[in-house]
Amino acid sequence: MKLQDRVAVITGAGSGIGQAMALLFAREGARVLAADVNGGAAEETAQQVTAAGGTCQAMTVDVIQPDQVKAMIERGQSLYGRIDILCNNAGIGSTTDVVGCEPDEWDRVMTVNVKSVYLGCKYVVPHMLSQGGGVIVNTASVAGMVGIVKRAVYCASKGAVIALTRQVAVEYVEQGIRVNCLCPGTVDSPWVGRLLAETDDPVAARQGLVARQPIGRLGTPEEIAAAALYLASDDASFITGTGLVLDGGWTAR
Ligand SMILES: NC(=O)c1ccc[n+]([C@@H]2O[C@H](COP(=O)([O-])OP(=O)(O)OC[C@H]3O[C@@H](n4cnc5c(N)ncnc54)[C@H](O)[C@@H]3O)[C@@H](O)[C@H]2O)c1
Repeated sequence: MKLQDRVAVITGAGSGIGQAMALLFAREGARVLAADVNGGAAEETAQQVTAAGGTCQAMTVDVIQPDQVKAMIERGQSLYGRIDILCNNAGIGSTTDVVGCEPDEWDRVMTVNVKSVYLGCKYVVPHMLSQGGGVIVNTASVAGMVGIVKRAVYCASKGAVIALTRQVAVEYVEQGIRVNCLCPGTVDSPWVGRLLAETDDPVAARQGLVARQPIGRLGTPEEIAAAALYLASDDASFITGTGLVLDGGWTAR
C-alpha cells in the first residue's frame, strides 16, 4: 500500500481521470475527499470507493470559487486531520482557434483550468507547511507542450499549469512540499466521449485522435491515475517541478 495513512483531496473526482485517481489512491490506503462541481458524481465516486472497501467522502466544490476551494481544504483537514496530497485535476476543454475563441470562453477556460490550480495551492500550502510537507499533483496536458489545432485557450491554460507547477515547486522545495504535473495525451474519459459525440463522424474523429499517438490507441484514466499515484507516493521522493508525459509517444515524433 503506497499511500497508507495518507490523506488525498482530489478535484474533478466525479468522472474520468479524477475518479480513477480516487479509486486507486483509496486502494493504496489513502483516505480520500472526492470533490467535484457535480456533487452527485462525486457522491457516486465515494460510493464506489466505499463499496471497494476504501475510505472516501464526497463534496460539491466549484474550483473557480475561492471560498469553496478554501472550504474543501478545511473539510479534508477536519475529516481526516491532515492533507498529504492535493490533486488539482478538474478541468474543461475548448475546441476553438484563437480567432473563434470569444473573450468569455477564454476567461472561463483559463479560470477553470488555471485559477483553480492557483487556488488549490494557495489554500493547501499553509496546511502542508504546518504539518511538515506534502505533495501536489496538477493535471496539465500535452496541450501545454505542443500546439494543437482548435485548442487555443486550452493549450494556453495547460501551458500555464506546467509553469505554475514549476514555480510552486521551487518556492516550497525546502519545506518538504513536492509539486508536479501530469501531461497526458488523449485519454478515453467521458470528456472525450462528449467531444466525439459533437462531431459529424465520431468514428472518424476517434481515429483522428488515435492517429496522433504512435502507440495506436487512447490512454485510459487508470493509466493516468497510476502516474498520479507514482508522483504522490514516496517512490517519487526526488521528483519535483516536473511534468510527467503520458502520451503514447505523441510528443516523441
Ligand atoms: N481526457 C483527456 O484526453 C485529457 C488529456 C489531457 C489532460 N486532461 C485533463 O484531465 C483532467 C480531467 O479530465 P477528464 O478527461 O477526466 O474529464 P471529465 O470531463 O471526464 O472529468 C472532469 C471532471 O471535472 C469536473 N469539473 C469541471 N469543472 C469543474 C469545476 N469548475 N469545479 C469542480 N469540478 C469541475 C467535472 O464535473 C468532471 O467530473 C482535466 O484537467 C483535463 O484537462 C484530459
